[in-house]
Amino acid sequence: MSSTPNTGPVQYVVRTLMSLEPLVAAEAEACGAMDVETGRRSVTFSLEDEGLYRFLQTTRFAVRVLRPVFRFKAKGPDDLHARAVKLNWSQWVDARRSLALDVTVNSDHFPHDQFAMFRLKDAMSDHFRDRLRGSGHLNINRTAPEQIVHLHIAGEDVTVSLDLVGKDALFKRGYRAPRARAPLNEVLTSGLLALAGWKPGETLVDPMCGSGTFSIEAALWTAGVPIHAGRTSWTLFGMPGFDARLWRSVSESAREERIERAPILASDWNKHPVGDARESVRTAGLEHLVRVEVADFLDLRPPRGVQPGLVVLNPPYGQRVHADDLENLYGGIGGALKHRWTGWRAALLFPKDLEAQHRIGLKPSAKHTVMNGPLACTWAIYDLFKGKRAEHLSGATSEGAQGEEGGRPEAAPVPEAVEPEGETVRFRRPRIQKPRDEAAGE
Ligand SMILES: C[S@@+](CC[C@H](N)C(=O)[O-])C[C@H]1O[C@@H](n2cnc3c(N)ncnc32)[C@H](O)[C@@H]1O
Repeated sequence: MSSTPNTGPVQYVVRTLMSLEPLVAAEAEACGAMDVETGRRSVTFSLEDEGLYRFLQTTRFAVRVLRPVFRFKAKGPDDLHARAVKLNWSQWVDARRSLALDVTVNSDHFPHDQFAMFRLKDAMSDHFRDRLRGSGHLNINRTAPEQIVHLHIAGEDVTVSLDLVGKDALFKRGYRAPRARAPLNEVLTSGLLALAGWKPGETLVDPMCGSGTFSIEAALWTAGVPIHAGRTSWTLFGMPGFDARLWRSVSESAREERIERAPILASDWNKHPVGDARESVRTAGLEHLVRVEVADFLDLRPPRGVQPGLVVLNPPYGQRVHADDLENLYGGIGGALKHRWTGWRAALLFPKDLEAQHRIGLKPSAKHTVMNGPLACTWAIYDLFKGKRAEHLSGATSEGAQGEEGGRPEAAPVPEAVEPEGETVRFRRPRIQKPRDEAAGE
């Protein structure tokens, strides 16, 4: 394998999640990337080593980073083998170190993904035969490989890439409490904060926090620590041309000193996820930035003495909740936001086809579609202004105006679950049992 550092820009392909492509592109540009192009859940760009290391240490929105090393055409598995066996594998892969292969196929020429991968593996073994000390077998290790080769086939176009990160994709930040129940993906969570326009320095309230992912991602961002600088086991570190001294010097300079700090307040009505969230906050060393408490959102009032900011909500979806209770819950959330949280912005994540969403009763100012695992979800952003919408848009909102016209009501009537009573507002309680030990997430 060659050990010369790269001279000049190299092309990389970043895999990300739906709707986060522009966020990755902006991160790459901030690191000096050129020829940035966004695709479907991917971003391609060219970077020199220093910019690449900065990107890898700081990216919040990338899931995987690949370096394409071979591109060729193949009309089927045997053609793939015939061409791949002639490639200069020794330049990129060390036959003595453990290896995993990964495959994505979108081609009529390759009806079986796994077969395409086996043929590539055969081609590599044939190439390395004399170096494999008679065993003839590559050292395949699927759980903790030192190298990962990605095979991507679209039609006849074959791309072979090296994965720079390894099995622990970039969403594994290392703070998650082992017991955390069905938490949101960390990359998705950071993306949702960015899509809602949140930035360090704005107050964040996370009142259905579960394991606390929103608050922890926001606090890591506020702390300005290069989020991945502490990684020790990436495949990159054993790759040809890796420059350990440059990596260390980038990690020293990538720390951002932040003077803008605002409260980050997490709460949940269930003490079990609150315990998990506290543990994760401790693991991440963020106790000075995040407060975690047990509280029912329907009783919660905005914190006093802070600038209004963003309320993020990832409520239960319904797999364990009765449909009537969901209607009440979403009605209660809409009512609470409208009557108690005026002056704030709110963002809600719910499945795209969730029936109870109409009970929120507020018109979003923006909506994004994201994938929460396999589930298509809406991330809806609300401006919770006081008074009438027209007054708000014209900048003439009157301070005292509240009640029926507050928030940004949709044409639908005020949800039944909300009962305005002068200054105070009562909510008809959802019949959801406070869970004792059930999963926090959905
Ligand atoms: C889908 S989970 C949130 C998962 C979280 N985003 C994470 O990454 O771990 C929904 C959470 O809402 C909480 N919850 C449901 N109703 C609530 C209420 N009225 N007040 C506060 N928390 C509530 C549940 O206990 C659960 O932890």
